[in-house]
Parts: sequence; structure tokens; C-alpha cells
Amino acid sequence: VQTSEAEEAAMHRALVLAETVRGATSPNPPVGAVILAPDGTLVGEGATAPAGGPHAEVVALAEAGDLARGATAVVTLEPCAHTGRTGPCTTALLDAGIRRVLYAVDDPNPEAAGGADVLRTAGVEVVSGLQCDAALEGALRPWLFAVSTGRPFVTWKYAATLDGRAAAADMSARWISSALSRADAHAIRSDVDAIVVGSGTVLADDPHLTVRDVHGNLAARQPLRVVLDRRHRSPQDARIFDSAAETVILDTAVPRFALKALFDRGVRHVLLEGGPTLAGAFVEARCVDEVVAYFAPTLLGSGPSALGDAGIGTLGDAVTLDVETVTRVGPDVKIVARPVWGAPTGGES
Ligand SMILES: NC(=O)c1ccc[n+]([C@@H]2O[C@H](COP(=O)([O-])OP(=O)(O)OC[C@H]3O[C@@H](n4cnc5c(N)ncnc54)[C@H](OP(=O)(O)O)[C@@H]3O)[C@@H](O)[C@H]2O)c1
Repeated sequence: VQTSEAEEAAMHRALVLAETVRGATSPNPPVGAVILAPDGTLVGEGATAPAGGPHAEVVALAEAGDLARGATAVVTLEPCAHTGRTGPCTTALLDAGIRRVLYAVDDPNPEAAGGADVLRTAGVEVVSGLQCDAALEGALRPWLFAVSTGRPFVTWKYAATLDGRAAAADMSARWISSALSRADAHAIRSDVDAIVVGSGTVLADDPHLTVRDVHGNLAARQPLRVVLDRRHRSPQDARIFDSAAETVILDTAVPRFALKALFDRGVRHVLLEGGPTLAGAFVEARCVDEVVAYFAPTLLGSGPSALGDAGIGTLGDAVTLDVETVTRVGPDVKIVARPVWGAPTGGES
């Protein structure tokens, strides 16, 4: 099936719309949708509203109103066919008189899948796979990973000196990277559902773990703050216990169980922010899906390394990563990379 230039542009727009709601929709996926009149004019657009609110298709249809009759819907994810907190999108599209639906990625969620078949059966022309690769790498990536594995996508973020130290030997260096890198790292927080640290970081740094703007004002939506703290060592007056955001303490010793507990709470994307001990445990459990590292052009020569013991004793067992991007952030170098996990080893939970 041929797609027009207007339809390709509409999918590009839908992917941009999806980016705008990253971190704001879980447990629902961040989706973008555009409605095109038969002559290719954009008559409506939308993105997924926070959970319990309308899905992207419904937002875009509302904007299009009567102009949706006979129109084409361009959506980043297969329209859902199930009734969750809102009705099926397939019904909304049919009721609005949509004649053609183009989407990028099939819905892997067994509860919601089958939307394309419902639409086809009702006589709608359906095209799947439009700009699929871009969609798989975009806002949907963590959500798709989470629903197909049953645990949240984990981004491990850290800052280190050029010799890989996450802190000074005397633990004095609270900030390793530049203010620009910290602002960059801060922006990642607004894209995730939960920020995870170990009790060691709470004790050493007393972090706030909130999303703030450049003026220090708290954002309206805050990720869940999570401390893995098996011995309940986090002090009661720690900043993570203030009212700025919700906080949970998990005392499980197994990262996979902690992640499953977070998934069950609707978390689809986790930002692992520290420190080296917990990062080592997550790497050992193969529970790191993306690495974001900020390297400051400084040397320490002592102090804990960014990654603690991950159970790797020989070079042959080293974790290999695919580097996605290398950029300069002020004086620092930022590397985004993806671990390449081989076949699972025995004895894993
Ligand atoms: N440069 C950076 O990006 C960065 C980021 C964060 C922190 N840091 C630095 O790192 C230092 C703190 O290091 P850290 O390694 O002590 O911090 P951490 O990794 O945040 O905390 C370690 C603690 O987490 C708890 N924990 C809970 N579940 C665990 C599990 N499954 N496996 C392992 N540990 C688990 C353990 O305490 P329990 O036994 O009590 O549960 C452990 O001692 C500070 O100096 C801080 O400034 C640097």
C-alpha cells in the first residue's frame, strides 16, 4: 500500500507529539496521533493524556470534530481494541467515520492488541509499519520493552571522572560533572516514572530526587522516588521523605524483584541514579538497558569507581555496549550506550 508525502509527514508529527508526553502516561504508552482530511490537510492532532485520560487517537479526533468523517488517522501505535479506564480507540475511530488508519508499531500488549483486525473487519483500510524503526527508537521504546518483558526499562545514569571515579576517596566530591551536565541529566528525570538509588547514596548525598526547572521550581509531575534499602538505613529526616513527591523504600535484595514490584505499580521506565554498589548489582542481574554516562575531564586516581562489583572476574565476561551517541556537554563528554546482553546464564531468577 502506498503512503503519501502528507501521510509520512503526519507520522513524523505523531512521533514528535509522542515525545512531548514521555514520562507522563504510564502505565499507558506515550502515543501521538494525527488526523488527515482526504486532501492531506491536518485537521486534528493529539498525544496520550495522563493515565485515566483519553488516548492520543481520542484527543486528535476531538480536535478534528466532523472533519474526521472520511479522514485518515496516523498513529504511532496500533489503536487499542480493549476497554481499560477509557473505551477502545477502535470504537472511537469507527464512530468518527475514519476510513483509513496508518500506524507504526503493533501493540505487543495481549490485552490491547487486535485493534488492526477490528478496524479491518469494519471495512477500514489499515496500514502497519509506517516509520516503524523510528517509532521503536522513540518515546515508545521503554514502554514496549516493559510490556514485553514484565519489568520496567532501566536507564543507568552516572557521572565520573575520566579515570572512572564516581566519588573522591574522602566522599567529599558531591558533584563530579559540570552544572551543564547536571542540568542535562536532570532533564532525563522528567521522562521517567521512577528514580532509583541505594541507601548508600541517601546516606552520603541526601539527594532530593525531584524534577525542577531552571529556577528550582518543582515540576507538576514528579517521578516516584525509590530507595533500595534492605536494612532501613535511610534517615527519617532525609530529603526524599518530604512532600515534593511520593517515595517508596524497597527492602528486597534482588533487583529483578524490586523492578517487578515497580512494574506492578505502573512504572515502565526507571532511572537508576546510583551509586556504584547498586549499579553493580543491576549490571550483574542484567537489569540495565541503557547507560548514560557523563565524563568530567578530571582525574582522581582513588575513590569508588562508577560501577561496583558486578560479578565479572575475567575480561571474557566483560559487558559489551553499543555506543549510540557521544556528545560534548559543556566541558564534559556524554556517552549514551546500550549493553549487549548475551544468552542468559544459568541460575538467574
Ligand atoms: N557519580 C555518580 O553518578 C554518583 C551517583 C550516585 C552516588 N554516587 C556516590 O556514590 C557513593 C555511594 O555509593 P554506594 O555504592 O554506597 O551507594 P548506593 O549504591 O546508592 O547504595 C548502596 C547500598 O544500597 C543497598 N542495597 C539495596 N539493595 C541492594 C542490592 N540488591 N544490591 C546491592 N546493594 C543494595 C545496600 O545497603 P543495604 O545493605 O543497607 O540495603 C548498599 O550498601 C556516594 O559517595 C555518592 O556520592 C555517585
